[in-house]
Amino acid sequence: MPNRAELRLKDLDRVIGYTLSQVKDDGGQPTGAVMFFKDLTQVEQLEERERLRDRLASLGEMAAGIAHELKNPLAGIEVMAGLLKRQVPDSVDAQSLLADIMSEAKLANAILVEMLEFVRPIRLQVEHTALADVVHQAVTLAETKAPRGNVSVAVEMPADLPMIEGDHHQLCQVFTNLVANAFEALEGKGQITITVSSGAMEQDPAFGREPQKPVLMVVVDVADDGPGVPEELTDRIFNPFFTTKPQGSGLGLAIVRKIVDAHDGRIDLSSSPATGTRFRVTLPVSSPGGWFK
Ligand SMILES: Nc1ncnc2c1ncn2[C@@H]1O[C@H](COP(=O)(O)OP(=O)(O)O)[C@@H](O)[C@H]1O
Ligand SMILES: [Mg+2]
Repeated sequence: MPNRAELRLKDLDRVIGYTLSQVKDDGGQPTGAVMFFKDLTQVEQLEERERLRDRLASLGEMAAGIAHELKNPLAGIEVMAGLLKRQVPDSVDAQSLLADIMSEAKLANAILVEMLEFVRPIRLQVEHTALADVVHQAVTLAETKAPRGNVSVAVEMPADLPMIEGDHHQLCQVFTNLVANAFEALEGKGQITITVSSGAMEQDPAFGREPQKPVLMVVVDVADDGPGVPEELTDRIFNPFFTTKPQGSGLGLAIVRKIVDAHDGRIDLSSSPATGTRFRVTLPVSSPGGWFK
């Protein structure tokens, strides 16, 4: 009777499967035993990854469901606090408390909207997109998300920048989130420089397409001269819900990464306390890999 079992070699962090069988002679008498070992580590890792994907998918569905359900009561709270505010025009205390209730409800709603954006499967509306428009629009939108103060924003881009195939609205969100983060990091004073350039670049095999074939890419750097991202956090800032801000959602960069990935692009961070923070977004001018994600 063959025996199958799993042997865990903890220190080696490998999973070894073995099969034990009796060896019998022609008369059916046992004469010995054989044991086959097989390294199942990769199989196990793939299965674990599959399980994790399933868990994350159902978590995402649940989060989307909760966020959706909470939107209505929150809107109700905001509207009713507004009505009540009008009924007590003379009470200074009540006015300020009700204004706080309204702004807190607004904040909670903004977090829900971001969460829905993050968990919703991405569908790109690809069009001929001028990054110049995207970037300028993003700076204006970022001002509605974070206080700009006296921060100056410089945009440098060549006049002959190629149009790219991409989703105008979602790319706008990418740069809005990056610029809003820069405003927040600068706390009202400093400089943001957005530099756009283009050129043929070797493809990274990680892009999922043929390596070595130069592809026309556009590179957008969003740099600020703020405090920088502490080295020990650089691995985590793209994680959903990772934030160092008391009222942050931690979803801004997770959404950025999701949109950049969907465009077959990449995002890199370089940062130091001396120079500040630079996010580099690299996007292919067109994606031969197709957009159906
Ligand atoms: N330009 C920047 N300078 C310094 N830190 C940054 C910058 N951009 C992002 N970060 C760090 O990354 C974290 C995650 O950013 P994000 O995903 O947008 O979430 P949130 O802005 O809600 O905190 C921020 O809390 C901050 O610590
Ligand atoms: Mg943010």
